[in-house]
Amino acid sequence: MNLKDLYINFFISKGHKQIPSAPVVPENDPSVLFNTAGMQPLIPYLMGQAHPYGTRLCDYQKCIRTIDLDSVGDTTHHTFFEMLGNWSLGDYFKDESIAWSFEFLTEHLHIPVERLAVTVFAGNDEIPFDEVSYNKWLSLGIPSERIAKTVDDNFWIAGASGPCGGDTEIFYWRSEDAIPETFDTEDDRWVEIWNNVFMQYNKDENGNITELPKKNVDTGMGVERTTAILEGVNDNYLSSIWKDVIDLISSISNLPYEGNERSMRIIADHLRTAVFIAADPAGIKPSNTDQGYILRRLIRRAIRHAKQLNIDINSDWELDIAKVLLDKYKVYYKELEYNYNVVLDVLHNEKVKFNRTLEKGLKEFAKATRNNENIDALTAFHLYDTYGFPIELTTELANERGLSVDIKGFEAKFKEHQELSRTASAGKFKGGLAGNGEIETKYHTATHLLNAALKVVVGPDVHQKGSNITSERMRFDFSCDHKLTDEEKHQAEDLVNKWISEGIDVTVKEMPKVDAIASGAECMFIEKYPDVVTVYSIGDISKELCGGPHVKNTSELGTFRIIKEEASSAGVRRIKAVLE
Ligand code: ALA
Repeated sequence: MNLKDLYINFFISKGHKQIPSAPVVPENDPSVLFNTAGMQPLIPYLMGQAHPYGTRLCDYQKCIRTIDLDSVGDTTHHTFFEMLGNWSLGDYFKDESIAWSFEFLTEHLHIPVERLAVTVFAGNDEIPFDEVSYNKWLSLGIPSERIAKTVDDNFWIAGASGPCGGDTEIFYWRSEDAIPETFDTEDDRWVEIWNNVFMQYNKDENGNITELPKKNVDTGMGVERTTAILEGVNDNYLSSIWKDVIDLISSISNLPYEGNERSMRIIADHLRTAVFIAADPAGIKPSNTDQGYILRRLIRRAIRHAKQLNIDINSDWELDIAKVLLDKYKVYYKELEYNYNVVLDVLHNEKVKFNRTLEKGLKEFAKATRNNENIDALTAFHLYDTYGFPIELTTELANERGLSVDIKGFEAKFKEHQELSRTASAGKFKGGLAGNGEIETKYHTATHLLNAALKVVVGPDVHQKGSNITSERMRFDFSCDHKLTDEEKHQAEDLVNKWISEGIDVTVKEMPKVDAIASGAECMFIEKYPDVVTVYSIGDISKELCGGPHVKNTSELGTFRIIKEEASSAGVRRIKAVLE
């Protein structure tokens, strides 16, 4: 049995309910691009809301940490990983949590106690030393020399604010060398395998710490690292998780892993992450912003490294690798099965797009650096704008040759370019830009209705990507991977008109941002909103964070008609509509 199944079975035997992994793109928290920890989708429940599955939960959660993107290529870093977690929501606390971790590691994974060491929270001005955890470890047979007390490493919080608390971390001696009696946290032969956080506090945006209504436990164990440890390999990419993928890359490139590790690891890691992003219900497509940009960077970097290995990049190499990944993971994650072909299309289309310019771009890069010149802002921007080289790719190419890139200059150019295109598009609608007259107000409300109608007709993955209102028409951009059929357009139009004819009241309410999000209200850029937000609801059809203004009742809108549906950018469609 593999680690994931062992873990879930163990915690089920301790009264836990298994919950499904949440999507990699957070559903109700646009302030982060991806879920970075198992606890992230559980924040409302850690804050006190009742969870429908009860007070003991466990899962394996898909996580993406882009902070590590450029480190991928070594033996341990991955952009995507699976995190095992078990939670107590005001149920058990330190005693059981520590005892079960110990039991699982020693009796189910058969790790000898001699190879384990732990850290506990040492205490500071605000929170006392965690004596309970310390004594618990002692009672289980971990000697005091193997229990280190720290402050910074033993306090866990996801980001700057939210539920948090002291933690106890479990380390494994990953080396053939004799195990030292005393645990030295600076010795990197000790690797962390599990983190048990005792979430009993909330840190607000001003840094104030208060007690949460209940004392929770949040734990996290990385599947990749622990699997490598259990299998006794010092390179994560040599574990059973990766072996088939690495073997395939080796056979496609006709090169051994040895000597080509970096490129092979990058291809394996990046394609796996790309598969999971493309399969996510959020419907992300490669683009130049947010998650789409990460997806683009991953695919383009993988292609560059495939070229490095002399793989024929026009062959179906990326599809062959993706299929191995999809087949392997679809047993655990249903969306990989549902979106199997979507994933293959995303990878293939992005590859075709980048392959058109990659060769020329590389020549341009070689030309610019033929006398070992550093890359200036203009060249970096040219590589980006004309050849589709993400700035990070140019930086990697430069670093491989010991050269630098004027990133600040690039960013300035990028901004300049963005402002130019904004002015150009604003100019197009001169004189008609969103005033707050009566007609514009009507279009505001019609925008919410169209957003809601598209979710019904096209699917719940439709999200607003932009909007623009003039006195003549409304324009609405939304995520969608296909051109709307005539049928879909008619259905959306009919639905909006039906809601208009029903004369539904539009209501407005002020509420704390956290509550608005927890209640499922839609919004585009959560971080741009203050702590208290205005939420406009149209009956139970639509609920959105919005500054308004809106009409009082949908009957004021007249007749809604779609006049145009077109592509806006990759994965984003645009509708222009009028009220008559
Ligand atoms: N949330 C904790 C972590 O990610 C368990 O380490």
